[in-house]
Amino acid sequence: MLFNYDYEINLEKLFKIAKLEYYKILDYGCGKGIWSNDHVEKDSKVQNIILYDNNADLINFLRKKYKNKKFEINFNLEEITNTKEYNIVIFSSVIQYISHEELKRTINKFNSNKKKITIIFTDVPFLPRLVEFVMMPLFNLKRFLFSLKLLFSQNYKNIKYSTYQKSFFDLFQNEFEISYSKNLHDLKYLRYTVVLSSK
Ligand SMILES: C[S@@+](CC[C@H](N)C(=O)[O-])C[C@H]1O[C@@H](n2cnc3c(N)ncnc32)[C@H](O)[C@@H]1O
Repeated sequence: MLFNYDYEINLEKLFKIAKLEYYKILDYGCGKGIWSNDHVEKDSKVQNIILYDNNADLINFLRKKYKNKKFEINFNLEEITNTKEYNIVIFSSVIQYISHEELKRTINKFNSNKKKITIIFTDVPFLPRLVEFVMMPLFNLKRFLFSLKLLFSQNYKNIKYSTYQKSFFDLFQNEFEISYSKNLHDLKYLRYTVVLSSK
């Protein structure tokens, strides 16, 4: 498994920026899981979480980690987009691995069923990769060391990487209210969070 950085989402911070009454979540690119079983189980606002990733190697790991019935591990995107119910999609540290074109198509797909939806992108990189890398030790040494390890991994060299300026999201301003906030992830200042809420 290539990515195994231990990050856990802070539900209170998520609630503050998403401002929804209840949360039926699609975690897009879930990796090894950013959710605390305990917090999710106790929080009545969080009704269910679908964990989706395009790396099938994660399935067994996730099945063992998330046994609570609020979690559904489902790696069939067609089925999720056509039949499952969710009011928020979270891309946590994922869009850098998705090209601008693919992201446009994906957002349009979420928007096409006319249901109200909130989409959160967190840990969005905007600086050129090398610049960010050089600055990273000043902000988060642990994350820098993790990124350093990734850089030397054979698989990582084949992975395409995209950065996103805030202006990219202007494309969606007809369909969504757009707001920005501090990174929900642990790399403060070098990355940001953007929230798209259906108008
Ligand atoms: C850096 S990890 C982030 C994992 C987790 N969301 C987190 O915040 O810790 C990136 C994840 O995105 C997944 N991913 C990359 N491209 C994807 C795509 N096009 N569709 C779905 N998942 C993708 C990878 O398999 C990986 O698990």
